[in-house]
Amino acid sequence: MNAHDFTQERFTLQPLSDLMGAEVIGLDLRQPFDPDIKAAVHKAFLDYQLLVFRDQNLTKDEQVVFTEQFGTLERHAVRNRGTSDHPLVHIVSNLDESGKPMGKVRSDKWHTDKSFRPEPSMATILHAQTLPPDGGDTVFVNMYAAFDGLNQATKDKIRSLNVVHSWATSREHEGRPVTAEEKRDAPDNVHPLARIHPETGRTAIFIGMHASHIDGWSFEEGRAFVVELEESVTRAPYLFRHKWQAGDLLMWDNRCLLHRAEANFDARKFPRILHRTCLRGTATQ
Ligand code: SIN
Repeated sequence: MNAHDFTQERFTLQPLSDLMGAEVIGLDLRQPFDPDIKAAVHKAFLDYQLLVFRDQNLTKDEQVVFTEQFGTLERHAVRNRGTSDHPLVHIVSNLDESGKPMGKVRSDKWHTDKSFRPEPSMATILHAQTLPPDGGDTVFVNMYAAFDGLNQATKDKIRSLNVVHSWATSREHEGRPVTAEEKRDAPDNVHPLARIHPETGRTAIFIGMHASHIDGWSFEEGRAFVVELEESVTRAPYLFRHKWQAGDLLMWDNRCLLHRAEANFDARKFPRILHRTCLRGTATQ
């Protein structure tokens, strides 16, 4: 893992593991990128799947401007739209309505953002605002590596399958059935289980908490298959853990990573607040 010095592009790339992730050193994200820097950052995003920018301090507007350099901002699910004074920035937090830590950390199940949409999120940008003294990590699974690690028969099998992704079902699994309005806003969608990344051409397993069951199978059989597959790949060789530092801004590729927040801190005592923007992806088939 050698650092790459993009002398011409004025930043350095420090890989964070052999699996995935790189720290981008030397850029102030409040400044718009010139075309060469943007192209080099985009290439690093495709090569490393997760980019970590340290010591940033972006307002919500600045985060939106940074995000929009790479694509089209995506609206949030109906329920999350009201959690910010800025319509395109979602506040990720463990605070209750009175602003106190509520003991629960949201987004703690493996998922890829908005996979229930017809065009699931391409990228998520998550910027730390308030962190607990320790823990509250975000953990990632490299789904390229997970696919590559399957035997040939399983690869062939999952290449032939599609999955129903359902916001309604994932909310039910969380014990919170959706309203009719939410269901209208986010109907079910079907995506290939083995997804070809539109920019790299690599194959990634495309599942997560919104992946309900295999399309065309009985719900029970299809659900069991998806759950078992997820359990089998969300394990050590494919995992990368990000330990947050003040000022961190992460940008990751939802088309080939799963992620989840980890409640490895006292969520009844300490606030954990991050600002999230998402970029819309493309149709999967
Ligand atoms: C998310 O799922 O977008 C948020 C992850 C986190 O809170 O670490």
